[in-house]
Amino acid sequence: MMDRNADAPWSQFDPEVYVDLNYRTPLEVDLLIVRLMRDYFSRCYAQGAPASVRGVDVGAGANLYPALSMLPWCEKILLLEYATPNVEYLERQASGGGYDTAWDAFWNELREAPAYRDVEPRSRFGEIVRVERANLLDLDGQRRWDIGTMFFVADSMSECADEFQRGVECFMDALTGGAPFAAAFMKESLGYQVGAHKYPAYRVNADRVRESLQPFTAELEIHDMDHMVRPGHEGMILALGRRNQAIATP
Ligand SMILES: C[S@@+](CC[C@H](N)C(=O)[O-])C[C@H]1O[C@@H](n2cnc3c(N)ncnc32)[C@H](O)[C@@H]1O
Repeated sequence: MMDRNADAPWSQFDPEVYVDLNYRTPLEVDLLIVRLMRDYFSRCYAQGAPASVRGVDVGAGANLYPALSMLPWCEKILLLEYATPNVEYLERQASGGGYDTAWDAFWNELREAPAYRDVEPRSRFGEIVRVERANLLDLDGQRRWDIGTMFFVADSMSECADEFQRGVECFMDALTGGAPFAAAFMKESLGYQVGAHKYPAYRVNADRVRESLQPFTAELEIHDMDHMVRPGHEGMILALGRRNQAIATP
């Protein structure tokens, strides 16, 4: 039997263990992704961002760098996450005390670009970021954002092809026409362990990622990166693009 999204132990997800495993010591591949995303968003907003841009990071989990990469462009950023321990982690990061120093290494890459240089990230993050518990698979196109990120979610929440495709579609349907987006996927992942718990994955390669996104975007860059973080996958895939202008009404 294939593990579906609802079968995995999301309520047991341990964000501190997850940060220790993935982000506490920044990996070169994540820093590369941050630079690519920073430069892509900077190109998208080369003429300046419109007023009142609203951003979303879907399945934010215990990773702040997608939201940090949207910081200069947004009036508000919403972090959507399903697992309660991750929601609580994100709420702590966005609270008055400021986010953990673990995230400074990622900001150091971002602030190399002009648009980021004058932003004071900790206070701005606290001011504009809000957290909401939500299921990606329930997003039905009723709410849309002007810029969005989804990192290691559609491929890392289920073993089933239909839920992967639906995850991508729900993310795309959460974006307004023309919205820049960044989405990342583990390549050929067999699943992942966080502490005592095992979480499912759907195996994708760059072609599968391209095929899933292509109907929604006329502008798409796929970065196929053969960096392995741990046994059980073959690298990471970063997709950068803009949502099509024409959007079917839900
Ligand atoms: C591999 S983690 C990725 C977390 C983070 N975005 C990152 O870049 O490290 C997968 C995330 O998807 C979340 N998730 C799983 N099912 C979800 C769903 N149906 N809706 C929203 N988030 C979900 C998990 O709780 C977890 O935070």
